[in-house]
Amino acid sequence: MAERTFIAIKPDGVKRNLIGRIITKFEEKGYKIIGLKMLIPTTEIAEKHYEEHKGKPFYPRLIKYITSGPIVAMVLEGENVIAESRKMMGATKPEEAQPGTIRFEYAITKEYNIIHGSDSPESAEREINIYFKKEELCSDWTTMLEMITNEG
Ligand code: RTP
Ligand code: MG
Repeated sequence: MAERTFIAIKPDGVKRNLIGRIITKFEEKGYKIIGLKMLIPTTEIAEKHYEEHKGKPFYPRLIKYITSGPIVAMVLEGENVIAESRKMMGATKPEEAQPGTIRFEYAITKEYNIIHGSDSPESAEREINIYFKKEELCSDWTTMLEMITNEG
C-alpha cells in the first residue's frame, strides 16, 4: 500500500479562501486524495491532534487557533508522501520556509501558518484515525472506475 499522510488546511487558510489553491498543489504533484472533509474541530479533537505539544507555552493558543473555525482535513496517498508533502508545506516559521512552499507563499507568522501535515508514519496513522473512519477513505476508486468503464 502506498504511504498515507494527514493534511489539514487550518482555519486561517480556509478563511483566506486558499482551499482550492492548496488542494491543487497536491493534486498537481500527483498525490491521490483518498479522504476529504470540512469540520470545526472540537477542543477534544484538537487536544488529541496536538497532544505532543501539551505543556508548551504556545499550546493554549494553538488549541484556540485550531478550534477557531472550519478546517479542511484530508488524507493523501502516494510515494514518500509524508516527507514530500512536508517539503511542499515548508518550515514551521514562514521566514525559514523556502520560496515556492505553501507557508512561504501564504503565511507570515509561525503561529498562524495555514497548513498542518503529519511528520512521521506513526503520526500519520494516529492523526488519520483521529479525523477519519476507515470507511470514509476511498482508496480504491480508480479500480472501481476501471470496472465501470470496462463494462461496456
Ligand atoms: P504542524 O504540526 O501544524 O504541521 O506544524 P509543524 O509540525 O511545522 O510545527 P509544530 O512544531 O508541530 O507546531 C505545531 C503548530 O503549533 C503552532 N506553533 N506555534 N508560538 C510558537 O512558538 C509556535 N510554535 C508552533 C504552529 O501553528 C505550528 O504549526
Ligand atoms: Mg507538527
